[in-house]
Formats: sequence, C-alpha cells, structure tokens
Amino acid sequence: MLDRLRADLEGLRRDGFEKTEVPLNSPQGSHVVLGTKIGADIINMCANNYLGLANHPAILAAAKDAIDRFGFGMASVRFICGTNGLQLDLETRLSNYLKTEGTILYSSCFDANTGLFETLLDERDAIVSDALNHASIIDGIRLSKAKRFRFAHNDMAALEAMLDRAAGARTILIVTDGVFSMDGTIANLPAICALAERSKALVMVDDSHAVGFVGPGGRGTPALYEIADKIDIVSGTLGKALGGASGGYISGRREVVDWLRQASRPYLFSNALMPAICAASICAIDMAETASDLRQNLSRRVMQLRTGLSELGLEVGGIDHPIVPIITGDAQAAKDLAVHLFMNDILATPFAYPIVPKGAARVRLQVSASHSERDIERVVSSFASYIGVGKHSPTH
Ligand SMILES: Cc1ncc(COP(=O)(O)O)c(C=O)c1O
Repeated sequence: MLDRLRADLEGLRRDGFEKTEVPLNSPQGSHVVLGTKIGADIINMCANNYLGLANHPAILAAAKDAIDRFGFGMASVRFICGTNGLQLDLETRLSNYLKTEGTILYSSCFDANTGLFETLLDERDAIVSDALNHASIIDGIRLSKAKRFRFAHNDMAALEAMLDRAAGARTILIVTDGVFSMDGTIANLPAICALAERSKALVMVDDSHAVGFVGPGGRGTPALYEIADKIDIVSGTLGKALGGASGGYISGRREVVDWLRQASRPYLFSNALMPAICAASICAIDMAETASDLRQNLSRRVMQLRTGLSELGLEVGGIDHPIVPIITGDAQAAKDLAVHLFMNDILATPFAYPIVPKGAARVRLQVSASHSERDIERVVSSFASYIGVGKHSPTH
C-alpha cells in the first residue's frame, strides 16, 4: 500500500493536482502574513470570513470570557457529561435567529450532514439531490440506505423528473446547498419548494455559505426568498461567516432535531463543542443580525469586484454573492492566474478537477466585509495586468 500511495502522490505532483498548504503567520483576516512570504502584506481573497469576524475584538472577548468561566474543553460527548449551558444557549440562539423549531450542534457541518440522512431515512425513502451539492452532503447520502436520485445543478425540469421517479417512497427529501460554494450560485428555493409541495416532499438546505450575510438580517437563503417556513431542515457551519472557528448544526422541525439528538452517530459519538466557541458564535450571530453596516460593506465590495472584473471582459460566475469564481476552463490557466496574483501579493486558490468538473477550472475569489475599496482595486488591477501580460487568457 505504501508503494501505491507514493506512486499516487507522485502522480498528483506530476499532474499539478497536489494541494499544498500555506501557513498563515497572522490572525485570519483580509490582510495576512504568510510563513512562505515573510514581510509581504498579502490581501487574502480566499477565506470564508465573509463578515470579517474571525479576529473581531468582540468575538475574541466573548471567547476569552467563556474560557475564564468554563475552561477549555469538555472532554465528553454531550449526553455523558459534555453539555454546558453555552451549547444550549447557542442552540436556542440559532433557532431564534433562523426562526426554526429547534437546533442541534455538531463538531462541524460536515458531521452534521453525515449524521443527518442515515438517521432519518432508510430503504423505504428517497433522496433527490442537486448534482453540485457539497462533498459532506454526498457522503451523508451515501451512508443512508435511501434510494438516491440526482438532478442537474439548479435544473428544475430535471428535479421534477427525478421527483416523478421517486414517487411512491415513504418519505421524499429534496436536498440542496443554499449557495453553491464553487460557483456562487443560489438555489432556486421558491421553485424547489413548489415542486416539493406538489410531490409531498420535504426540503433540506445546507446554508453554510449564506447564514450571517445573505437575506434579511443575514438569515440565509430561505429568508432571502421569504420561504423559511417551507424549509424543513437547514444545516450550517460556525466555521465561515459566524466567527470562523468550527462547529456546525442542523436546525428545523422539532421532531427531526429531537430524533437526531437520540440517534445521530456523529452527535452521539463525538466530543462536545468547546464553550468558548459557543459564546463567540452567539456574539457573532448578534453582530450578524444587527450589524447591517458589515453586510452593506460586504455587498459594496462584492459589486465593486464583480463590476471591475466583468469590465475587463472576464467570465465571472454566480450572481451578487461574495464567492466570485473566474472560470478559466483549463487547469494550467487557473494555476498561472493564481501564481500571477500571488506575485502581486494577492492570495487566491485555483481549483481544478476533481474539486470542480473537468474543463471548468477556476480561481475562486471570496470577498469579506473587512476588505477595503483599495484592496479590491488592487485585485482588479492585478487581473488587468495579467490579461495584459499573461500568455493564457483567463476567459474561455
Ligand atoms: C456547503 C458546505 N457544507 C458543509 C461544509 C462543511 O462545513 P464545516 O467546515 O463546518 O465542516 C462546507 C465547508 O466547506 C460547505 O461549503
């Protein structure tokens, strides 16, 4: 096996698909210091730090205060002796924020998604899932014995056809990301809910790339479309806009949450979230709900970047969202573009197959509320210089 792994690793390196990790020598932020480029002030365009809260003084104070009061770790799963009042407070706060009947915390949203489907559904049921759903949803669905139907990304005719094929199942669950992380596209939730109603299906949305900043009060894609009451289950993360530490949740119908607490394996057999994360996440939700200036700044910078890049003639994916993919098609072109940005002290990640479909390589930029107008100007002008000097055009 070791020989095989060495050969596989060599193959990845040779084909340019090896993922390398850049150590940050500063707190997470719109500007960072890298261990590999000492002394440079790098504009960070690839964190999920949408509201810029990862190193916000109020979040740090809430975490420090919780450590002083409740210590560091819980050293237990929730149902043995790992439940602290702050976890219960955070679950209630998330339910109030998302206007749901109940919420259950997990160590991550990946865990939440892998602990969801197998706990609720078996071979008598059917799951109808968007083809571009996140890896954690795909893996979670694989763990369940339910029949699986996949529809082409955001294609409502394809969803309708799959719902027809799933007819007769005891429970049909439609599963979609709220915002698709590689594309910045938003699920057509109104159409999905209308089709769900017709087929008596339930709807589950993973809103990891929306909660905190999309929709009124940052309540996510269901709130954006004013259909929160029609969504049965929402999953989400504490690891992106809401402070960016770690942790995830399932929020939704009371019976679903109560049953997950009894039977969901990643919840039952994994350590409880540390109280400091819970306190800081409550603080982040308070800020996300009330700090409309953060959301306004975010949407101004998003518009500035999208407009600037489009005016350069680049193919910019998604609509209005801080995930801004520049589709190069060719993997080498995406790499060349990211290297050029890096030479200009801008950090952005190139993505190629198998993370995105073959021929759809891209550089994904992510805007934060803490980016300044000048930061975005620098990013746009770096793209302009790439087009001027690059041998590969980043458009198709
Ligand atoms: C849509 C989506 N769901 C789930 C996750 C996993 O979240 P977490 O980091 O909390 O495990 C991610 C993170 O990449 C994501 O983008």
